[in-house]
Amino acid sequence: MKVGFIGAGRMATTMGRHFLGAGHEVVLSSSRGPEALAGLVADLGPAASAGSRQDAAECDVVILATNWADAPEALKGIDWSGRILVDGTNAPSRIRDARLDVVDWDCSKPS
Ligand SMILES: NC(=O)c1ccc[n+]([C@@H]2O[C@H](COP(=O)([O-])OP(=O)(O)OC[C@H]3O[C@@H](n4cnc5c(N)ncnc54)[C@H](OP(=O)(O)O)[C@@H]3O)[C@@H](O)[C@H]2O)c1
Repeated sequence: MKVGFIGAGRMATTMGRHFLGAGHEVVLSSSRGPEALAGLVADLGPAASAGSRQDAAECDVVILATNWADAPEALKGIDWSGRILVDGTNAPSRIRDARLDVVDWDCSKPS
């Protein structure tokens, strides 16, 4: 299975290592483009690669691994039709009950 991460920080790296250890492939992405992740994917090994956010979103499983505040920008412009996104973010407590809506994002609106 191929697992895509939008975000390539501590959470994506830690989960990525577990997926790789279980024999899966991992695609990492960030706002800085694949080149910026070359060192990280080299460290993770041959089953890890860096791609665009769209590349990550087209994997069998897609995990959002950005900080909450970066999620709207990170999810923007991707065709999510028929896709399932695993949201790995922790919302800050003051907006914990806010709605995650990639089409009409507004943290001030309670669900
Ligand atoms: N750390 C944990 O133990 C842990 C556990 C459970 C849940 N979480 C949750 O997981 C999320 C990530 O935590 P973390 O500790 O991994 O954070 P982190 O180390 O700061 O990583 C965040 C990643 O998001 C990327 N990013 C930021 N803006 C982006 C954009 N527009 N498009 C694509 N990628 C973007 C960052 O890379 P660039 O800035 O280079 O784009 C970075 O790779 C948080 O919501 C946190 O609450 C963390």
